[in-house]
Amino acid sequence: MCGIVGYIGSKEAYPILIKGLKRLEYRGYDSAGVAILNDSLNVYKKKGKVNDLIKSIGESNTQGKTGIGHTRWATHGIPDDNNAHPHMSGSERLVIIHNGIIENYSTIKIWLESQGHTFKSETDTEVLIHLIEEIQEEGGLLIEEAVRLALTKVVGAYAIAVIDRLDPNKIVAARKSSPLVVGIGEGEFFIASDATPIVEYTNQVVYLDDNEIAVVSIEEGLKVMNIKKEIQIPLIHEIDLKIEAIEKEGYDYFMHKEIYEQPTTIADCMRGRLNVQEGWVRLGGLSQYKNRISKANRIIIVACGTSWHSGLIAEYLIEDLARIPVEVEYASEFRYRNPIISENDVVIAISQSGETADTLAALELAKRMGALTFGICNVVGSSIARVTDAGSYIHAGPEIGVASTKAFTGQVTLLSLLALSLANEKGTISRSQYQEYITELGQIPAKVKAALSCNERVKEISTKIQNTTNALYLGRGYNFPVALEGALKLKEISYIHAEGYPAAEMKHGPIALIDENMPVFVIATNVSAHEKIVSNIQEVKARKGVVIAVVNEGDKILEKIADYIIEIPSTLEPFTPLLSVIPMQLLSYHIAVMRGCNVDQPRNLAKSVTVE
Ligand code: AGP
Repeated sequence: MCGIVGYIGSKEAYPILIKGLKRLEYRGYDSAGVAILNDSLNVYKKKGKVNDLIKSIGESNTQGKTGIGHTRWATHGIPDDNNAHPHMSGSERLVIIHNGIIENYSTIKIWLESQGHTFKSETDTEVLIHLIEEIQEEGGLLIEEAVRLALTKVVGAYAIAVIDRLDPNKIVAARKSSPLVVGIGEGEFFIASDATPIVEYTNQVVYLDDNEIAVVSIEEGLKVMNIKKEIQIPLIHEIDLKIEAIEKEGYDYFMHKEIYEQPTTIADCMRGRLNVQEGWVRLGGLSQYKNRISKANRIIIVACGTSWHSGLIAEYLIEDLARIPVEVEYASEFRYRNPIISENDVVIAISQSGETADTLAALELAKRMGALTFGICNVVGSSIARVTDAGSYIHAGPEIGVASTKAFTGQVTLLSLLALSLANEKGTISRSQYQEYITELGQIPAKVKAALSCNERVKEISTKIQNTTNALYLGRGYNFPVALEGALKLKEISYIHAEGYPAAEMKHGPIALIDENMPVFVIATNVSAHEKIVSNIQEVKARKGVVIAVVNEGDKILEKIADYIIEIPSTLEPFTPLLSVIPMQLLSYHIAVMRGCNVDQPRNLAKSVTVE
């Protein structure tokens, strides 16, 4: 996902832009660039990382108090210097940076070429800045008016920032389906894709809405209008993001830090929502709709990746405890398969970033079909959080590592609270069971902290597995989605092919894969089906598979059967994923480090996929 930063104020823009781009590196990118305005408009851009850009700029002129910067995750056009942003208009009067996709860019490009325009890159973004210039020159317009009119002709998603060399005291920004935040400082303004590049300068931000255009200038301050040129009154939010939350604080990688933050982030997710002494669960975002959700015909969960895995766990939790039918859908499939959705359905969207294009589109489809929509997000003010009828934040703090860890356990924690709240509302569990679950949930942060003590054991096992080319992850019941999550973690940061499977499903084909070269991770903390998971492990052992079993502390049976065991504290079955995922996260982290992979920014991946 591309990253956007902009600055206008009394300080030199260049260092602010570079620092901002580094804060956005976690989003994943393949090239970077800046444009800085002083007497001239200087554009520098380079394939590779921000450090490569800095090296290529060297001692060039970077003076100027107005500028924009961009990290590009390639959509149209290969990653190279030419396709990197910023892009200039034909006359080099205007410059633009863009996150999103202009779907009708080729039609526009053909028309522009008929008007004599020529292009240097293969990007849709360069077409947009040429269109803006064509409209501006045609009408002798102010840059903000030219941007507005150009955007009325555009189909697609965009977050853009534009500078006009001949109208130097302003930056124009606009958004549709790609997030854009304006930071309001003392006599200075910041523009960014999210709050992380802004938070060290100001906590006053405005989240632009779809089809809004912002103009920031020192003289006139912040002005916002919509695509119809109607003035909008911006809502200023005070964000409580602390700078420490986006620093590594002594860890080698953000992912490692975020794995160890989980006892705190799970406690933060439950704060004010769970009271063990008084025996209650209260989800503020749910209160207005609890009755409607508890009477829903069906709950449909739409999500992608790791968030889809937490959705699978929610299916077990909500059906098991609240007896409401649940369907879990890949958002990317759901949005196109002409699904049946009724007004008696509730659609829950789970998304750490709150910006995943497929999940957002699935949600908008559900809204159009009349379903009640509920969002579970981490990023405050994100698009999904703003589109849904109601929702709850997981309060995990910024998750910088591309591989999701604390957001996953935050999602599962919130979904556990949701299932308990609905079960209590419907009376599908007794008062004593309710209290038992509440008391155990209150123990989870401490138990996660205890589970983290398996780190050295996991590291030792990782040395034996690091060179494998394939791996299998098996689990039953609540641990089946954890097997999928463990496999995803391994493949996305260590590039080892891994598959997650229901343990009992092995004999229907995949067991043919088992031999002495196949490490098989079995999440075997189930109490209710312990003897079944034991026999699944024996089936693997009988075919010389190497079994690494995650077990409840003191499991003497599996200690004798598995090749390696990783012990974690036991808990009530519905909450076991919150503990059994910890060794899976640590395993993928250590193997990726041993293989010299870029743990926080794995190749080809973005932190949030805001394009289809
Ligand atoms: C998980 O480690 C990946 N980073 C990815 O699967 C991610 O969960 C997925 O892209 C969904 O992102 P979201 O939660 O921000 O919607």
